[in-house]
Amino acid sequence: MKRIVVKSPASSANLGSGFDVFAIGLKDPKDTVELRASKSHELAVRVTYAENSSVRGFEDTAMRAVIEAMATEFDLAYRIDGVIVSHIPIGVGLGSSAASSVAAAVGADRLFQLNLDSKSILRFAAEGELAASGSRHYDNIAGALQGGFVMVHLDSLETIKFPSPKGMRIVIVTPELKLPGKKTKYARSLLPRNVGLKKMTKNVSFASRVVAGFANDDIEMIGSGLEDSVVEPARKMMIPWFDEVKDAALKSGAAGVCISGAGPSMMAIVNSYKVDPERVRKSMEYHFGSHGISANSFVTSIGEGTKIVRKF
Ligand code: HSE
Repeated sequence: MKRIVVKSPASSANLGSGFDVFAIGLKDPKDTVELRASKSHELAVRVTYAENSSVRGFEDTAMRAVIEAMATEFDLAYRIDGVIVSHIPIGVGLGSSAASSVAAAVGADRLFQLNLDSKSILRFAAEGELAASGSRHYDNIAGALQGGFVMVHLDSLETIKFPSPKGMRIVIVTPELKLPGKKTKYARSLLPRNVGLKKMTKNVSFASRVVAGFANDDIEMIGSGLEDSVVEPARKMMIPWFDEVKDAALKSGAAGVCISGAGPSMMAIVNSYKVDPERVRKSMEYHFGSHGISANSFVTSIGEGTKIVRKF
């Protein structure tokens, strides 16, 4: 029997202006996935959650879709058992299905010695996103795979990656809200079908600041690019008191604030050489709380992406 263990992190997609193109891979939390494969006369894939998994959502569906797509394309006749230990909160804009999809793709690639390039890994991992959320978007999976700040070229799936500026911290605040089960599908249904020239131009200018900020290690410049004239205005109704919480984060020293992925988590970036990220976290949590909305929150940083931790 072949066995492999892979760890893949949470991610935050869009960064305001970079809808479906930008993402960061976070340092924490992470999913751990184990794949076991034994020769069989036909393909059989089973995915389960480990007892110590803190959450259970659509990751098993996502992983199965990825493994089945790979097994079909490469004609793999194996019995494959996947086990997930998930610590990434589900359906809150932190790329939970992306992490397990990428872990499955990276694990299967190494286990079956397929030697796929990163574009092919993204192509297969996107099958997991499709199964879990109804659309093949590549931003979260690129962030989870590579870590850092990643941009995906949507025609070729080529990615460009920048490391995190030193001292940059990420504050994630997740309000406890009742949202539809397939939340990403719902959040995408809120988006406008067409975008005016003025809004498009504004978003190009914001997105340019994000990229230039990462290229120049300038946290304040990145923060000023986390604005968004198109997606955020359409989605912020999902998050009660969004404007007030955003304002509180900026007043307490955040360099920029946006919706994390399809929400409802909010992400603030902080230059920890100048501002204590705990101050920003507490202020955001406090403002949700003052309106009777409980929120979970944590401080992390940009991480290194998916890693194989053990191969037997
Ligand atoms: N770019 C995607 C969206 C990310 O905003 O719909 C989903 O996590």
